[in-house]
Amino acid sequence: AVWSERRAGTPDKGGAGEVPKQKQSIQEVRRSLPIFPYREDLLAAIREHQILVIEGETGSGKTTQIPQYLLEDGYTEGGMKIGCTQPRRVAAMSVAARVAQEMSVKLGNEVGYSIRFEDCTSERTILKYMTDGMLLREFLTEPDLASYSVIIIDEAHERTLHTDILFGLIKDIARFRPDLKVLVASATLDTERFSCFFDDAPVFRIPGRRFPVDIYYTKAPEADYLEACVVSVLQIHVTQPAGDVLVFLTGQEEIEACCELLQERCRRLGSKISELLVLPIYANLPSDMQAKIFNPTPPGARKVVVATNIAETSLTIDGIIYVIDPGFCKQKSYNARTGMESLIVTPCSRASANQRAGRAGRVAAGKCFRLYTAWAFKHEMEETTVPEIQRTNLGNVVLLLKSLGINDLIHFDFMDPPPHETLVLALEQLYALGLKWNFCYLLITDYPLSDVVTCSEEILTIAAMLSVNNSIFYRPKDKVVHADNARMNFVVPGGDHIVLLNVYTQSGYSTQWCFENFIQFRSMKRARDVRDQLEGLMDRIEVELCSCNGESVPIRKAVTAGYFYNTARLSKGGYKTVKHQQTVYVHPNSSLFEEQPRWMIYHELVFTTKEFMRQVIEIESGWLLEVAPHYYKNKELEDSSSKKMPRKQGKAREELG
Ligand code: CDP
Ligand code: MG
Repeated sequence: AVWSERRAGTPDKGGAGEVPKQKQSIQEVRRSLPIFPYREDLLAAIREHQILVIEGETGSGKTTQIPQYLLEDGYTEGGMKIGCTQPRRVAAMSVAARVAQEMSVKLGNEVGYSIRFEDCTSERTILKYMTDGMLLREFLTEPDLASYSVIIIDEAHERTLHTDILFGLIKDIARFRPDLKVLVASATLDTERFSCFFDDAPVFRIPGRRFPVDIYYTKAPEADYLEACVVSVLQIHVTQPAGDVLVFLTGQEEIEACCELLQERCRRLGSKISELLVLPIYANLPSDMQAKIFNPTPPGARKVVVATNIAETSLTIDGIIYVIDPGFCKQKSYNARTGMESLIVTPCSRASANQRAGRAGRVAAGKCFRLYTAWAFKHEMEETTVPEIQRTNLGNVVLLLKSLGINDLIHFDFMDPPPHETLVLALEQLYALGLKWNFCYLLITDYPLSDVVTCSEEILTIAAMLSVNNSIFYRPKDKVVHADNARMNFVVPGGDHIVLLNVYTQSGYSTQWCFENFIQFRSMKRARDVRDQLEGLMDRIEVELCSCNGESVPIRKAVTAGYFYNTARLSKGGYKTVKHQQTVYVHPNSSLFEEQPRWMIYHELVFTTKEFMRQVIEIESGWLLEVAPHYYKNKELEDSSSKKMPRKQGKAREELG
């Protein structure tokens, strides 16, 4: 009741009946949210059930309030964290900022957020907002999410790829972590399906307080929906009572174009119209600009927010009375036949259109102008949006799950399994890249050994070069001496991995360069292609790449982290593998053939005339204890004899000729 009194103002009074939020204390605002009366019931339900689905209208307070309620109820005692995922970066940032403000703490201290390329958390952080992709990555370093007492998968109805994978992983860990609470929060969509997936978890419904929204359709389809948006905004501005406007467009370019057009036309109309504040919002907008959309509209003016579908459910902007919906969104689509993925502008679903319309009815009765016909709504739009997992190249999913140690992807517990053929295709494609999973793992993990993180660029190159293994150097029978000399020019200390990196770094794109340096042009080209593909994959699973500028130690440590079980030690009579005491030999083509370091990691063993180690890198035995304390014992790595042993391998080279 408090709420409807406070918001009783109708737009035709020019918003005068509405009490501006500033006048209410922030705690009063918190108490006025639709979720507040259900605080106790909600906490009781969470205490009683391990997994709970929470459904509530956008703006009811799910994202900002539930983590605070949990905190107030003691869920962060003993240093435990509450994690809340968001499919969108902007939402994670802005919501964290809002909650920090509500709790009067500095953002990044008790309340923080973690998004790609930006970690705004500290050791003190107990409420952590993050993108769903970031939580996925936390599984790599903390597979049971032991530092969390509660995980909230928010905006679950968005069904992003990452959220869908999280469902499967979290359902699994919830089984052996009975103390972990799992909350699946969603707008009023699909909640039965979530409940069903999570073994019939109960659904807690927060009743909405939505004012009626009148929906208007166009009589005929619009030829240019951007222009139609601009015209509609201006029409609303001159003919409709006070109240802000929200326009849904598909991306940054459209939004910028729309804002420019609006500003230009307003300038031309000059003092004939009252002030119109035009504000864009999209993912890549700088955060200070993003924050502007939340500023209250000054009296006498009208605000227009031009947004991507980020404003559909992830962000709530107060004061919106009018929504303009052209009915499109940008969607990823995947063609399994060509293996191509593309972002295309497509009609949004009816569910989306209804969410959009709902944004007009939060503070008062509103109006939604649909720039399409009623017929199109009925017949041309899909009921709901197809989950991303069913329209994406699965290469990155496979890569990610594999690095999480999930090998049986066919039986992974997907809420909506991807098409079987797409999954098989993805496995085949990655296999065809000839990659070793260890390398992918190295790239994806923030391995506890921080060196790995600092040299992922180099590791990417090395992985790509190794995938065209043994065919980089050209060694024609009639030019063996020249070829070997050319190869020697690339030799740098440390081992073959570093040499390959050096070749890649120095290499030119020309056939001429390759010819002069006895490098196989086709192999180099392939290595580049593989590297590009890998970089694309890393980008899509949001792995940040960084470089150590070719410095040898971090690279060698990283390789040690991925291949610690491929260790050989030089002892009397030659090299022996550390674990199985198998006699192995350095390949005569190796840059370390003469050097004979005491400890080495090999990329692979190949048997020709003997058991040869191919692609070796020199390491220090101490690193093995650092990266694989579970695998090695101190005793195994004792280094008693002198550093270098006399050469004994001269014969091998002769044998190979
Ligand atoms: O998650 P849900 O859509 O249920 O709501 P919410 O994001 O928790 O938002 C609750 C209220 O907090 C909104 O109605 C806004 O008034 C306010 N809010 C805000 O003022 N600024 C933000 N950045 C986020 C929320
Ligand atoms: Mg929310």
